[in-house]
Amino acid sequence: MKRYHLRIAGKSCEPHSGSWFESQNPYTGESWAEIPRGDARDADAAARAAHQALTSGPWADMTPTQRGVLMRRLGDLIARDAASLAATEVRDNGKLLAEMQGQLNYIPQWFYYYGGLADKVQGSTLPLDKKGYFAFTRHEPVGVVAAITPWNSPLLLLAWKIAPALAAGCTIVVKPSEFTSASTLEFAELFDEAGFPPGVFNVVTGFGAEVGASLVEHPLVSKISFTGSDSTGRLINEKAGRLLKHTAMELGGKSPNIVFEDADIDQAVFGAISGIFAATGQTCIAGSRLLVQESVHDRVVEELLAVARTARMGDPMQPDTQVGPVTTPPQYQKVLQYIDIARAEGATVALGGGKGTAPECGNGWFVQPTIFTGVTNDMRIAQEEVFGPVLSVIRFKDEEDALRIANDVRFGLAAAVWTKDIGRAIRMSEKLQAGTVWVNTYRAVSFMAPFGGYKDSGLGRENGMDAVREYLQTKSVWINSGAATGNPFVLR
Ligand code: NAI
Ligand code: MG
Repeated sequence: MKRYHLRIAGKSCEPHSGSWFESQNPYTGESWAEIPRGDARDADAAARAAHQALTSGPWADMTPTQRGVLMRRLGDLIARDAASLAATEVRDNGKLLAEMQGQLNYIPQWFYYYGGLADKVQGSTLPLDKKGYFAFTRHEPVGVVAAITPWNSPLLLLAWKIAPALAAGCTIVVKPSEFTSASTLEFAELFDEAGFPPGVFNVVTGFGAEVGASLVEHPLVSKISFTGSDSTGRLINEKAGRLLKHTAMELGGKSPNIVFEDADIDQAVFGAISGIFAATGQTCIAGSRLLVQESVHDRVVEELLAVARTARMGDPMQPDTQVGPVTTPPQYQKVLQYIDIARAEGATVALGGGKGTAPECGNGWFVQPTIFTGVTNDMRIAQEEVFGPVLSVIRFKDEEDALRIANDVRFGLAAAVWTKDIGRAIRMSEKLQAGTVWVNTYRAVSFMAPFGGYKDSGLGRENGMDAVREYLQTKSVWINSGAATGNPFVLR
């Protein structure tokens, strides 16, 4: 077993509790690492270290250009260590090695892009309605950021938060998911090597109700950037609201993937498959509702089944494995429960519908790629986030019907439209209630493209130039250039 340590003020340290908890490998079901069980005392130490780094010392004194240099160096170090970070994640999370290699090779781009942006954050001079004044704005770091991250793509989703936060000049305390903390702790070591001053980036591992809640309530934490379930997001937002803290919330979805009769059906089928089965369906942007126009419904389902049937479950370290295990035991139970719920609601199991028990699945937490047909949009399987390899196929009549069904859900993270009709593509992209709309593609994301939720899918945006604003606050400075300050008690 590998024993990890907390990372506070540039040092590895033991948790105040003196205790560690075990992290399991989802493919073997066995414990492989010991993760420090941080508590409120560690959260406090990390928040203080971050606050000190924010307000005094080398980080506070650096020019934005110097911050950018450090960020680009960090990007280079991530690229250098991509293979070992990827392997750690596969072990801890059950993600496919192929997917993790792709992610780790891509993550440096966030630090290059936002490193470049660090010294392009500019205020403006204000054309005032008053004579005798000169006024301008400054954009200053919002303060210490608590990044609370989930288990599905720990390092990628962390990069989405911290790259713009560092560009803005903030300092950070991360609380990774208790199920997948190892990669974040390994990643933390690269900060020193890149030359970041101590305290700029801190990691406190432990449980949500202990470390997570302590950070949310900590008076030195100014902003909470969260990705995870909408129930936890709401809880955090309530507390943050009471304490008047800034928040950014990315809370998952129930995204519609809409196939019209004029689509390139083969492409749409591949899009549907990657939309739901990539990362074993454990993605916020999973295309978990496949809306298919009646006239092509049977053909789409037939092709979908033909492709989905070939999916190989197995050891996520093996390059030819296509579907890995579910990451956590509670998630495994949750996905299986939703399969039972869908059956009880009257949906038809067209594929899968149970545990993965093939010999290649070993003792892992596998769920078969599952496709339900005959789903109606009022069923729970169509309304609630499953976060697993479970697809609901729903029929629609025409464009209006597709839109009504697509938007009739409380989430609004992403949506896709498959059609060759450019007018329809534009009409749909205007009317779909989602933060991202794809046309004839699925899952495309980039550091350059703003990402975030409509409706219950969240608040704020990640990625793109504007994401840096999420970590800034604006100050207006007024300078008297000639206006007389008269006696206020003398009426004029
Ligand atoms: P969660 O929302 O409870 O956990 C996310 C993070 O929040 C973890 O680091 C956790 O320790 C922390 N946390 C939990 N309670 C907290 C509290 N009271 N105060 C502060 N931090 C707290 O999600 P969980 O239980 O891991 O997964 C449950 C469901 O959430 C999944 O089935 C899925 O539907 C959804 N989910 C959505 C994700 C997304 O990308 N939007 C990612 C992961 C899960
Ligand atoms: Mg684990």
